[in-house]
Amino acid sequence: MEPEVYRRRGKEMVDYICQYLSNVRERRVIPDVQPGYMRAQLPDSAPMDPDSWDNIFGDIEKIIMPGVVHWQSPHMHAYFPALTSWPSLLGDMLADAINCLGFTWASSPACTELEMNVMDWLAKMLGLPDEFLHHHPDSVGGGVLQSTVSESTLVALLAARKNKILEMKVSEPDTDESSLNSRLIAYASDQAHSSVEKAGLISLVKMKFLPVDENFSLRGETLKNAIAEDRNKGLVPVFVCATLGTTGVCAFDNLSELGPICKAEGLWLHIDAAYAGTAFVCPEFRLFLDGIEYADSFTFNPSKWMMVHFDCTGFWVPKQPNSLNHWLKVIHSLKFLPRDILDWLYFV
Ligand SMILES: Cc1ncc(COP(=O)(O)O)c(C=O)c1O
Repeated sequence: MEPEVYRRRGKEMVDYICQYLSNVRERRVIPDVQPGYMRAQLPDSAPMDPDSWDNIFGDIEKIIMPGVVHWQSPHMHAYFPALTSWPSLLGDMLADAINCLGFTWASSPACTELEMNVMDWLAKMLGLPDEFLHHHPDSVGGGVLQSTVSESTLVALLAARKNKILEMKVSEPDTDESSLNSRLIAYASDQAHSSVEKAGLISLVKMKFLPVDENFSLRGETLKNAIAEDRNKGLVPVFVCATLGTTGVCAFDNLSELGPICKAEGLWLHIDAAYAGTAFVCPEFRLFLDGIEYADSFTFNPSKWMMVHFDCTGFWVPKQPNSLNHWLKVIHSLKFLPRDILDWLYFV
C-alpha cells in the first residue's frame, strides 16, 4: 500500500469507526454465532494472491462484526466496564505509526520518559505514597505499564519469590533453589481473582485462599493464624495478594491490618485493585487505601474504568526488588559509564 492509498483508506477507516461507535447501541451486544462460525468463511490457508482492499474492508461487516461482543455498547453490562474514548483511539493510531520498541531508555527515550512521567501523574491522581513515584527525592520506586493485572500479579509473585529464595540462601547456601521454592507459600482471600491462583501455579508457589469476614474482606487475624500454622509445618510464607475491589462483590481487604503483619513477617504485600482502582481518583474513596504504605506492589487497569483502550495496566513498586538495580540506578545518575553499557546492564 502506498502512502496516498493509506491516506484515503485511513480516512475511510476513521469514518467507519465513527459510524460504528456512534451507532453501536443499535447492534445486538452478544453475537448470535456458534463456536467455529468463522472457519467456514475463511480459506484454509493465507491467500497466495493479493486481495483488493475493498474486499478486505467488506469482511469487517461480513465476517468480523457478526462475532463481536460490543463492549462499547451502552447496553453491555457483563463482566466489567471496558470503555475506550476518542483521544485514546487517536493516541493508539500514532503509537502504531511510531511502532516504538521501548525496552531501554536508549531504544526510545520519548517512550521511556513519557511512561515514567505519566505513571507518576497516575500515582498522584490515585493518592499512592511518594515512594511509588519515579521523580521524588525519597523514592527509588516507580511505575511501568503492563498488559494485564494477571501479568502484574505474576511478576510481583516472581519478584517476591526471588527475594525470599535469596534470603533463604544466606542460611542454607547448599540447598537447591527448587527445594527452597517448594517450601514457599502465598496467601489471598477466597474472593481473589482466578489470576492469583494461576500466578501460584506458574511460579510453583503454593497458594492458600483464606476465608473472609461478613463484608467479604480478608482480615489481619485470619492471615496471622494462617502464617503461624504454615510456619509450624515448616513452610515459608512469602507473599500476600490483597484485593481492593473483588471481582464478585467489589469487597476490599483490610490493608491496615494486613500490612503490619506482612512487614513483621517479611511477606511481600501485592495489591490487586484491577477495576476498582480507578475510584481512588476520588479522595472520598481513599479510605480503602489505608495501609497502602505497607505495599510492595500495586496494580490496576486504566483500561477498565478510565476510558483508555485495552490493554493498559499500571504496576508500581516502591523499591527495587534487589539492591543491584538500585546501585545501577545510582551509577546511572553519576553518568560514570557510557549509557550503552548501562542500558545493557539493565537489560541483563
Ligand atoms: C479483582 C480482579 N483482579 C484481576 C482481574 C484480571 O484482570 P486482567 O484482565 O487485567 O488480567 C480482574 C478482572 O476483572 C479482577 O476483577
